[in-house]
Amino acid sequence: MTPASPADPDPAGDEHDDTTPHRLDTPPAAAGDGPVVEVHGSSGIAFQLGGSHNTQHIHQPAPPPPIPRGSDLPRDIAEFTGRHDELQRLVETAQAGRTPLITIHTVDGMPGVGKTALATRAAHLLTDRYPDGHRFVRLNTHTTTPAQPATVLAELLRSLGIDPRNIPDSIDERASMWRDRLAGRRMLLVLDDAATAAQVEPLIPANRECLVIITSRRRLLDLDGARPLPLAPMPPDQAAELFVRLSRRTPTPGDQPAIDKAVDLCGHLPLAITILAARLAVQAAWTITEFVDEVAASQDRLGELEAGDRAVNTAFDFSYHHLGPDLQRLYRRLGLHPGPDTDPYATAALDNIPHDLARRRLRELHTLHLIDEPAPRRYRLHDLLRHYAHIHTHHDPPHERDQALTRLLDYYTHTAQQADHHLTHTPLHISRCRPRPGQHPGRPGFGAAADG
Ligand SMILES: Nc1ncnc2c1ncn2[C@@H]1O[C@H](COP(=O)(O)OP(=O)(O)OP(=O)(O)O)[C@@H](O)[C@H]1O
Ligand SMILES: [Mg+2]
Repeated sequence: MTPASPADPDPAGDEHDDTTPHRLDTPPAAAGDGPVVEVHGSSGIAFQLGGSHNTQHIHQPAPPPPIPRGSDLPRDIAEFTGRHDELQRLVETAQAGRTPLITIHTVDGMPGVGKTALATRAAHLLTDRYPDGHRFVRLNTHTTTPAQPATVLAELLRSLGIDPRNIPDSIDERASMWRDRLAGRRMLLVLDDAATAAQVEPLIPANRECLVIITSRRRLLDLDGARPLPLAPMPPDQAAELFVRLSRRTPTPGDQPAIDKAVDLCGHLPLAITILAARLAVQAAWTITEFVDEVAASQDRLGELEAGDRAVNTAFDFSYHHLGPDLQRLYRRLGLHPGPDTDPYATAALDNIPHDLARRRLRELHTLHLIDEPAPRRYRLHDLLRHYAHIHTHHDPPHERDQALTRLLDYYTHTAQQADHHLTHTPLHISRCRPRPGQHPGRPGFGAAADG
């Protein structure tokens, strides 16, 4: 859920002692060389320029009071595989040194694509750079118990050692106390499974020394200053490597086609690969090829991708149930589309809605990572999400499904005739295929011909 209180409030035992001078990171100076820089606790900096008689005092703010440190990151993932470029992007900003503003990364992607795994791995790689602690906040948006920002802030403040009686009631006051306590601190914060920018905004520290990694199934377009890192399913070679590692097999070269097929059936989605490999790992009597052939022959692809408490279906359910009824209906109907991708015009016909509305709804599904946009205005469902949508169309009355498909096919027939007419000046003759106004392709020439 939310952050646990760190078990070890000050493991190094190095609370600031205001009377002891601390040396900053300067090379050792020989006697008589200068300058030697010393920090006198709250009193300021003393430059000693080669001799005791030449000392200047420059006052600077006192170091912030100590806070409990510690880490509540989940354990690192032993079998973490691939994602080299993405890790590099997350880690390099921390290595680049001081930035003018706080660094915020948003890792967004479809359910089960590996956002939490990536953020966790990156956080472990970065722990040394954030000595004031690491907090992993489970916002749990896609569970039955989503966390409220005010509650999360209260727990974060308690994790800093603040007495619950001193935690203010309002979310704004809690947020400013949180920011205040982190001033001058280097803390790493992972906000996992965020719903919206508004939800995470109050949790983000203000100072540039902190690093925040947010994961979300939604593209957080309205989070100011964030660096988006959209995460796609794995490239085929990484997917195959992950499958082999998790299935605990030592494949022969002859197994490679079966391995490639297995990760194809998983749509290269890490969650699906993890589940399928876990199933293979406990089926010692099966060869890889026998196992994969059996899975491929199944009529119920999503049913194959379940193991124990984990299921691709369940991960998709949480996204689908977050949609309003209109988006759910549109999404189901996209599962009826027989082609590899669609555009707003075809979608308008399929869902019997105006073109502009179809465009907006496709954009919304894209923001939620439920469809991809491989080319401008071309939208495509991930293989497993297409199965999921298709299964859900069976919740609709058969005549509605038939009508949706008929509208779509009419639209394509009409469009093909328009193109033919435009290119060859063949007369238009099947007027019943003409979609209603607003649903035909409105490109110059096309629309005019259609209306003529
Ligand atoms: N690069 C990887 N190497 C090894 N395992 C991975 C990798 N990426 C993901 N996994 C595994 O795949 C499964 C799904 O990953 P993860 O939970 O990170 O997905 P997610 O995108 O956060 O999903 P959700 O949208 O449900 O939060 C987990 O078991 C995770 O450990
Ligand atoms: Mg996650």
